Amino acid sequence: MNKYIFPENFKWGAAASGIQTEGITNKANESIWDLWHNKSPERFYRGIGSSLVTDTYNRYEEDVQLMKKVGFNSFRTSIQWSRLIKNYETGEVCQDAVEFYNNYLDEMIANGIEPMMNLYHFDMPAELQEKFGGFESKKVVDLYVDYAVKAFELFGNKVKYWITFNEPIVPVEGGYLYDFHYPCKKDGKLAVQVGYNIILAHAKAVKEFHKLNIEDSQIGVVLNLTPSYTRDEREEDQKAAWYADLLFNRSFLDPMVKNEIPQELCDVLAEQGVTPETTEEEIACITSAKIEFLGVNYYVPRRVKAREAEYELDYFTPEVYFENYVNPEGRFNPYRDNNEILPTAIHDIAMNVKDNYGNVPWFLAEIGIAMDEASEGKPDENGIIDDTFRTDLMKEHLIQLHRAIEDGANCFGVHQWTFIDNWSWTNSFKRRYGFYRLDLETGNRIPKKHGVWFKELATTGSFEG
Ligand code: FCB
Repeated sequence: MNKYIFPENFKWGAAASGIQTEGITNKANESIWDLWHNKSPERFYRGIGSSLVTDTYNRYEEDVQLMKKVGFNSFRTSIQWSRLIKNYETGEVCQDAVEFYNNYLDEMIANGIEPMMNLYHFDMPAELQEKFGGFESKKVVDLYVDYAVKAFELFGNKVKYWITFNEPIVPVEGGYLYDFHYPCKKDGKLAVQVGYNIILAHAKAVKEFHKLNIEDSQIGVVLNLTPSYTRDEREEDQKAAWYADLLFNRSFLDPMVKNEIPQELCDVLAEQGVTPETTEEEIACITSAKIEFLGVNYYVPRRVKAREAEYELDYFTPEVYFENYVNPEGRFNPYRDNNEILPTAIHDIAMNVKDNYGNVPWFLAEIGIAMDEASEGKPDENGIIDDTFRTDLMKEHLIQLHRAIEDGANCFGVHQWTFIDNWSWTNSFKRRYGFYRLDLETGNRIPKKHGVWFKELATTGSFEG
């Protein structure tokens, strides 16, 4: 048995998002998720859309108490653009939303839970998608910045950690390459433009945030990062991994953290005929918008090999340069579509941030261990669900994070995905990740054993394993 001690004032908690938790009570407008679910409910697991969620809008007081019970000292969620802003053009806010977010934030703060607020978690307002193409358009970039400024002005005195985007590459992949987010387009050139426009929206919001000079408040971004591991050392695989890393990691990390646009990225995009439209002024903004911290989401490692089969799509995707690869010797999670389990990736990510990104302060913003409801089983006689599988895996990942901190990683916290089992896009409630189970029929929150372990971890800042 070893004892793993984490730094003082480490942040412990969970992450969630507005749309995945709040529910639709009193919502000013719809997001693309409402719109898409209305159009195509069959795209969602068991047909369940984002109206069946944890109902945080009505239950936030009770839920903050549940956060305390499992020892959180911090919590990330997001403001919904489509809840806060009533009229996107004039910027008129929905007073009910202002009241709700104020109350929710006050409740967290009064209970010793530091709120970290994200501004965009895949939830484009439906109207802006339908009228202007969402982030396809630079007009929407500016409307996002107006919304961000509104949020800073309204809640800036309560929120010390602002996040511009969660996993900004995911709406690009889902909406424009691989068909798992609305608008379900498959267009490599548009995908690159959307990616660029999101980076621009982030940079402009960061600049506006700094102009406001809000005391004791910082801004950052949350990226999903994984190294690209290869089959073996052969040169063509190393090259494949280099491309995957350039297109999936460095494409966002370099501009957002280092304020650099890699020349190699420009060359690759030009080679593929998918160079986005940019202006000098925009590039100057992107290359000078400094963030104070980074959030890293990690679930599964990416594995690639050199292309063997011919590339068959008639539009650009990063897979032009590699094929995905399943490690025959890998360990897999039987409860999540056989996803590979690789805790050492956390150490690799941390060393990359340390060595190549100025060791920017960062936190593990999502680490999620999925199980389905059947494998978590029923509550025992004390009403608790035994999810020891989750705790054991969490320990393995935290041991790697601890090793990284000993090796100089500048990590200041860990947030698990998620707090109460929540609705997860087209997967709906297929996978469960929470400290509490959500009973879909009654809305009851049922505690899981992992929370007992986590409370001890969060309150002592250490665990034995
Ligand atoms: C992440 C998302 C989050 C959640 C988990 C399962 O990629 O940030 O919203 O759905 O996956």
